[in-house]
Formats: sequence, structure tokens, C-alpha cells
Amino acid sequence: MRRFAVAVDGPAGSGKSTVAKAIAKELGIIYVDTGAMYRTVAYDCIQKGADLSREEEVAACLEEMKMEILPEKGGQRILLNGEDITTKIRTPEIGKGASQVAVYGSVRNHLTRLQQQLAAEHSVIMDGRDIGTVVLPQAEVKIYLDAGVEERARRRVGELEQQGRTADLETVKKEIQARDENDMNRALNPLRCAEDAVRLDSTGLGIEEVKEKILSYIAEKIKE
Ligand code: DC
Repeated sequence: MRRFAVAVDGPAGSGKSTVAKAIAKELGIIYVDTGAMYRTVAYDCIQKGADLSREEEVAACLEEMKMEILPEKGGQRILLNGEDITTKIRTPEIGKGASQVAVYGSVRNHLTRLQQQLAAEHSVIMDGRDIGTVVLPQAEVKIYLDAGVEERARRRVGELEQQGRTADLETVKKEIQARDENDMNRALNPLRCAEDAVRLDSTGLGIEEVKEKILSYIAEKIKE
């Protein structure tokens, strides 16, 4: 089959990564979690004590950092200077930091290039905020996955509890709303539904249902 790309964008907790991983596994293509790349930048800056509100400090960390994306069946591992930090970056604090560093052009240009390289080499399903609009505007399939904020907060609480952390629904809801606000209103490549994307609301839907819907869009588009 010829190489193709599936772009999945949407706000925090909309179910993008769970569904995208399942689809990657089913189709035998590579899953690229671009949020993890922004999280890695934030993690590195925080480790080094950089001030996230200063682009020059973040850009200096970026220059020294070696980030490696290792696709694996139905997932992705991410190495920072040789260390596997895949699970370390899955915290609300790093999520917030990622949203802060994501406003900078230096960070976005650097990560966009890496993401485009991955899609040039493999068939991919890539999730993020600007994949259909900026990173892969030529993607064969574009999905904008949304869900109500209550449901997204409940899913996040569930994920955190699975990691053995306690989480308060109202606090998580406020964090998600703050992150949406930041991601949708930044000047550079804000979260937007691409004009040619299929909008899907996953509120009240299970992973299987969302996965089947997206698989049928992919099947339609790829045989065209
Ligand atoms: O998907 P996530 O929660 O892991 O993403 C973390 C943050 O990274 C998100 O709040 C905004 C930023 N991000 C971005 O600006 N562009 C992307 N393509 C992916 C993530």
C-alpha cells in the first residue's frame, strides 16, 4: 500500500492518543504522539531549572537536547539524551509546562521539522493540536476529535488513578480548561479544526466506536 498520513487533532483528554494507538496497531503503521515531544521539551527545561516564561532560556535547552522518537507496535517511546522518559512526562505539571513552551516559534519550528521527517519516512497516524492545519496539511485523513469538558476531566482522573495518583475532578477540570484556553488562543498554530477535517465528538462513545468510525474514514480515503 502507498504511504499515507492520518492527522488527529483535538483538545486535552479527547481520547486522541488512546484511539490513535489502537488504530496504529490495527493498521501496522507508526503512531506519533506530538504532545509527548512538547512534554519532553518542558521536562528538560524544568530539570535544568530554566524559566519557561523566557523563550531564550527554553531555546538554549532545545539546542543541547537530544530527543529520539522510537516507534513501537501500537505506541511510541521517547528518549531524552539517551534516557527513556516515556512515563515520566505523563503528569499534569509537565502537561501544563508543555502548553507553555508550545507558544514559542523556536520550539514549534524545531518539533514540526522532526514530525514532518517521521511522516516522510513512514505511514503514520499523528496526534496533536496542529497536525491537520500545519504539520501535515497534505494528510489523506484528518480528524478533529472533541468531547465535553466534564467527560474529558473524568477520563483524565481515571488515567491518573491508574497511575496510582489521587485526583480531584474539579481541579482536573480547571486544569483542562486552562490548557484549552492556552492552546486555542496562542498566536502561533493554535488548536483549530482544519477546514477539510472530519469533526467527531466522542462524548458518550467508547474507544471501540470511535476507532471503528475513524477506520472507516481511512478505508474510504485510502482507496480513493
Ligand atoms: O497532547 P498532550 O496533552 O500531551 O500535549 C501537551 C501540550 O503540548 C498541549 O497542551 C499543547 C502542546 N502541543 C502543541 O502545542 N502542539 C501539538 N501538536 C501537540 C501538543
